Parts: sequence; structure tokens; C-alpha cells
Amino acid sequence: MKNIINIAYVPGDGIGPELIKVAIDTIDLLFQDLKEIKVNFTLCDIGYDTWAKTEEFIFEYGRKFGGISEEKIKGISNTDAMLYIATSGGDFPTEFTTPFPVLRRRFNVFANVRPAFSYPNTPFLKKDIDFVLVREQTEGMWMGEEKVLDSNVIKATATISRDASMKVAKFAFEMARKRNKLKKVTCIHKENVLKYAFGEFVKSCELVAKEYEDIALEKMHTDVLPFELIRNPHHFDVIVTTNMYGDIISGETAAITGGLGVSPSGEYGDNYAIFRPVHGSAPDIAGKNIANPIATFLSVVMMLEWLGDRKEMELLHTFSMILKKSVIETLKEGKSLPQDIGGDATTEEFKVEVWKKIKDYKGGFING
Ligand code: NAI
Ligand code: MG
Repeated sequence: MKNIINIAYVPGDGIGPELIKVAIDTIDLLFQDLKEIKVNFTLCDIGYDTWAKTEEFIFEYGRKFGGISEEKIKGISNTDAMLYIATSGGDFPTEFTTPFPVLRRRFNVFANVRPAFSYPNTPFLKKDIDFVLVREQTEGMWMGEEKVLDSNVIKATATISRDASMKVAKFAFEMARKRNKLKKVTCIHKENVLKYAFGEFVKSCELVAKEYEDIALEKMHTDVLPFELIRNPHHFDVIVTTNMYGDIISGETAAITGGLGVSPSGEYGDNYAIFRPVHGSAPDIAGKNIANPIATFLSVVMMLEWLGDRKEMELLHTFSMILKKSVIETLKEGKSLPQDIGGDATTEEFKVEVWKKIKDYKGGFING
């Protein structure tokens, strides 16, 4: 029987449509001519441009999340994973907010994983950076919960629960065990200020740590981390933190490892995962064929790895490895580099170089 993989894809806004095309065409190239696996793509148009056309939204937690509908949520439910680039949250009128807190809650993708790695020929701060940031993202400050109390006071709410904190802490410890590197989880918090809220997050990490005698737990204040990341990024293995801090820190982890153009992410739940670059919709460069596709390629790499585990299909791991190796080799060669990392290649030119390598490696794999 044929194995079927169903992927929801979101073109989104800005550079989204051009990069999602690169991603889909690349997946098609990898799976081309394969009889035993079929990949189906389901279009899921959510985001600002969708809202501008349809005015659709979902109302929950007292907020209107624009450019998404229950029907689209239903469509996504029939897929194995989602691939998307970015939606322009900043363009919505004030009473609307970006749609993806809804996705994160509905599909309970609680762990946002952002690897920080120094790839060759990228403008990284130091060589050999290799750690992973794990950000809780189903609660905390970034869920769009805010209320105008009167003409003077606005209240934004951050929720921290034992359940969600334990879940993400466990995910981080599992990751440290799987990576088998420094065997350390660094919990980033501000317990000194919010004793109950961050206290709960820290306590959850401590409770989980008891189950992992082989992995050390380190605690660090949020305002110390940005300094340590620049001074000694090699100190870190797995960093775990709450939603807002994780988002802010990931800007810095991207900066020390070559920039937004090379930073991928995976948002993992127990039964669903969403893969996308860390960067946004970059309206300043949209439609110019100069967006760096590396973060997109590496997000596809993460997606194939996860699908490979879930579906127990070794071939998906092989394709993930082929794509990653193709990107790294193209970077190493250095003759075609995207513009944001110091080269002069267009999106298309860089893709073509990566594709040449994919074809070579695939040929080698199939023939040998
Ligand atoms: P951004 O990441 O879109 O852009 C920041 C800077 O990085 C810009 O100069 C942009 O040109 C550059 N950049 C980003 N991706 C690049 C790539 N692949 N290649 C080359 N250069 C790249 O962040 P910004 O400007 O804060 O937000 C723009 C819009 O994106 C906003 O509407 C925001 O709400 C949205 N956004 C969406 C996200 C998502 O859907 N996941 C995440 C972050 C922002
Ligand atoms: Mg962000």
C-alpha cells in the first residue's frame, strides 16, 4: 500500500508565496518518481492578505484573530503537518491580531524549537555554535490576550500553568538526551520579579529534572542570557523558556548564527507540528526574488525528520539528510550565496545550486 503524507501549506504574505513555492517544488523534487510514497499538499490560505479579501476571523479568548476560519482549521485537521513561511501580523487593524495563536492552541503545538547553528560561509558570531532554543508557545504573554480597561489603562495578560510548563520542560529534557551533547537544559526565567508565575515555570523544570539524572538543569535570569549568548554561546545545549522571552531571544540566536535568513523552526505538539522560518513576511523585499530560502529549506529538513519519526519511514530521514547536506555543501562552495548573508545570488539561483546537489545525492543514494 502506498504511504501518503498530507501537508498543509500556507503561502501567507510578503515573501511567503515565493518561498513556499521553493519549499513545495523542492519536496516534489525529492519525492519525484517514488512509487511507494505520495505527498499531497493542501492549500491553506490564512493571514493578512486572506483577511483583506474575505474579512474572516475567529473570535476566542476575547480577541479577533484575522484571516483564519473554522473551515480552514477543519482542513488542517486532515493533514500530518503544516509548512508555512509568514503572515503579516503587523498589517492588521488594531482590533484584529495575527492568526497563529489560534493554530498553536487548536493543534496544541506547545514547543517551538529554534536551532542555533553556525553554518559555513554565513556571518555567524563564532564558529561551532550548536544549541537549541525551546520556547513554550501555548500560553504566556504572546497569545494576544489584552483588554482596554479605560482611556488610560490597557491590560495585557500572561498565563503560566504547571501543565504547560511541565510539558515543555519534558520536551526540552528529552531533546537534551537525544542530542547527547552537553547534556544540559538552561531554564530562562525572571523568578526574582514574578515569583508565582516564573516560580511555577522554574518549579516545573526542577520537577522534570528529577526524572533525568543524566541531564543537568541550569537556571539563568532572562536579562543575563543575551549577554552570555554573545560572550560564550558554546556554553549552551538546550535552552527552555516561556513564550515572549523565547521569541525575543530567538532574534538574538538568529543574529549570532548568520541571521534570520538561515534560521528555521519547528512547532511541535503530540499529534501535529508546524514548520516555518523564524523570519517574518519581510514586505521590504517581497516579490524581488532576493529572499534567502535557507531558513525555508532547513524548516523542510526539520519537517521531514519529524514525519520520518512519526510515520516510521526511514526514507524521510534520508531525504531530510540529503536536503540538509545539499544546503550545507552549497554554502561551503560559497559561489552562490543569498544577499542577506553577503552574496549576490537571487532566491532562484541559490535554489538551483541546492537542487544540483539534491539530484547528485539522490542519484548516488538510489544507484548505490
Ligand atoms: P521580518 O523577519 O519580516 O524582517 C526583518 C528584516 O529581515 C527585514 O529587513 C527583512 O527584509 C529581513 N528578512 C527577513 N527574512 C528574510 C529572508 N528570508 N531573506 C532575506 N532577508 C530577510 O520581521 P519584521 O520586519 O519585524 O516583520 C514584518 C512582518 O512579518 C510583520 O507584519 C510581522 O507581523 C510579520 N511577522 C510574521 C511572522 C510569522 O508569520 N511567523 C514572524 C515575525 C514577523
Ligand atoms: Mg518572532
